Amino acid sequence: MVDEAALIQAAVEVRQKSYSPYSRFAVGAALWCEDGSIVAGCNVENGSFPLSLCAERAAVATAVGLGHRRFVAVAIVAGDAPVTPCGGCRQVLLEFGDMDVICISAGDHSRVDRYRLRDLLPHGFDLEELR
Ligand code: THU
Repeated sequence: MVDEAALIQAAVEVRQKSYSPYSRFAVGAALWCEDGSIVAGCNVENGSFPLSLCAERAAVATAVGLGHRRFVAVAIVAGDAPVTPCGGCRQVLLEFGDMDVICISAGDHSRVDRYRLRDLLPHGFDLEELR
């Protein structure tokens, strides 16, 4: 079972490492992997703006490098009101399974919005048939 408090805490902590000098919009994301481990990532911006990396994708890259390929939930901490993952990150996350998406406001973390990834990306590109 997902330990939501621990997952959110990991997203809160990694958000503090966000490198976002251009947007000043810090994002932290934490994945709950199938084996119960938590892997986190923050957004990493670049002076060549399009090269900036979202927190969700940073977390996915780290998790895959550690050998994780199925995610059960993702927690995202950012903004005065909770933000949902961008379209690109929805597609990247879906590669590793449908999952709970828990979006938490930064600051006092008082607002929590919950979704299923599939609902956020209806008709997303599905490579399953090619595998
Ligand atoms: N960002 C994320 O890290 N995740 C999202 O889901 C939306 C946007 C980052 C990208 C950029 O560094 C900053 O937030 C502002 O767009």
